[in-house]
Amino acid sequence: MNDEPMTQPAPISSPDGTLGVLLPGMGAVATTFMAGVEAVRRGIAQPFGSLTQMGTIRLGGRPERRTPRINDFAPIARLDQLVFGAWDVFPDDAYESARNAGVLGENQVEELGDFLRTIQPMRGAFDQRYVKKLNGTHIIESRSKRAWADQLIDDIERFREENGCDRMVMVWCGSTEVFLEPAAVHQDLDAFEKGLDANDDSIPPSMVYAYAAIKCGIPYANGAPNLSADVPALLDLAAQNTVPVSGKDFKTGQTLMKTILAPGFKARMLGIRGWYSTNILGNRDGEVLDDPESFKTKEESKLGVLDYILQPDLYPELYGDISHVVRINYYPPRGDNKEGWDNVDIFGWLGYPMQIKIDFLCRDSILAAPIVLDLVLFLDLAARAGMKGVQEWLSFYWKSPMHAPQLYPEHDLFIQLTKLKNTLRFLMGEEQITHLGLEYYQPPSP
Ligand SMILES: NC(=O)c1ccc[n+]([C@@H]2O[C@H](COP(=O)([O-])OP(=O)(O)OC[C@H]3O[C@@H](n4cnc5c(N)ncnc54)[C@H](O)[C@@H]3O)[C@@H](O)[C@H]2O)c1
Repeated sequence: MNDEPMTQPAPISSPDGTLGVLLPGMGAVATTFMAGVEAVRRGIAQPFGSLTQMGTIRLGGRPERRTPRINDFAPIARLDQLVFGAWDVFPDDAYESARNAGVLGENQVEELGDFLRTIQPMRGAFDQRYVKKLNGTHIIESRSKRAWADQLIDDIERFREENGCDRMVMVWCGSTEVFLEPAAVHQDLDAFEKGLDANDDSIPPSMVYAYAAIKCGIPYANGAPNLSADVPALLDLAAQNTVPVSGKDFKTGQTLMKTILAPGFKARMLGIRGWYSTNILGNRDGEVLDDPESFKTKEESKLGVLDYILQPDLYPELYGDISHVVRINYYPPRGDNKEGWDNVDIFGWLGYPMQIKIDFLCRDSILAAPIVLDLVLFLDLAARAGMKGVQEWLSFYWKSPMHAPQLYPEHDLFIQLTKLKNTLRFLMGEEQITHLGLEYYQPPSP
């Protein structure tokens, strides 16, 4: 299962102290995450969906019966250590934003209102050319990208001081930006910094937030599909500053189902002729994705998954000719309660066709919030363990996992989970689990 050489783990520094969580974008996902953490801290809800809070990890052979909870096993920060800061291009505090998002029940938002009202967004670095459907008003006045970077770094340092943060993590929860191809300005740090000075069009706001975070030594994760930190310039900076980064695009509703089911079909060598996926959603994210350029960024992210899992080059008869279609339709009455509808045309023994219909009536931000929490805690752990650059062991959380340029991304949810848990075992000096059972093996006598 391991595809990288591993050395001995270095000691991990203490998780004690205050951990600042910085969120560019304070919409549905960010407010559902913060409200949820507070509800769990108050003992009025449980952190379902969070591996760091609910998950266990098997250690050693099965007879040893050692299966601690992950947060008892690895030195992960506790929820009461977290403090929150955010930027948004609208001035609403987290209470107003949570009400607008309509994810949580009104009673629950009221119950947590005193906490949510304390989180006021800082002014966002924004230019409508990158998110056409938003007309942001609460923005940094300058249109210079260098000035954005300087302002964001000031914001970060002020937040650090005012909240007595010992460490911080930034997770992009902002809108999906328009599709951008990698450009010359992304190729190295020098070109990127010159691009900031020259206001290069290929540097969208999300890249400036990523730059500011990594420059300040803060781990960065990107919840949207836009490139953001996934360019050589910012990865070089992350390597220089020993900063872990992770992305892209939270793996929630439909793609989560796809990466659960497709490995199963492949495991049983069942063929696939077509996979048609459509989504209807009515939240602000849906509105942003109604713009063809933002949709293209999302579509690329959603389409990649099947190819990598099914490996059509290895199995051309089974997966060489799949029609894979993804649609997203903005439909306001549905709000955040998305409907992800899939039709899968599969075939079995002798080529006989079968169909599977999946209608997932999901709640987007309810699925995304625990992912934000786990990423914050795992990236903080990674930083304290001295890990830097792309954290492939966190591919589990992403629709488009960032990966080393010479490798392909791993999309299979079960391989991703094995990789995540084996990385934790490695960091803690425990043996990797191979699932090789030798109890019934009797070597033939020579
Ligand atoms: N909810 C999910 O399941 C899910 C899954 C995968 C990815 N995502 C992505 O996560 C992101 C957040 O989703 P959401 O449902 O919370 O969307 P949302 O529209 O409710 O929130 C996004 C917020 O970002 C703000 N914003 C946009 N540009 C900004 C900038 N430059 N600086 C600061 N703030 C900015 C917007 O004003 C908005 O309040 C989106 O990009 C979405 O595509 C969400």
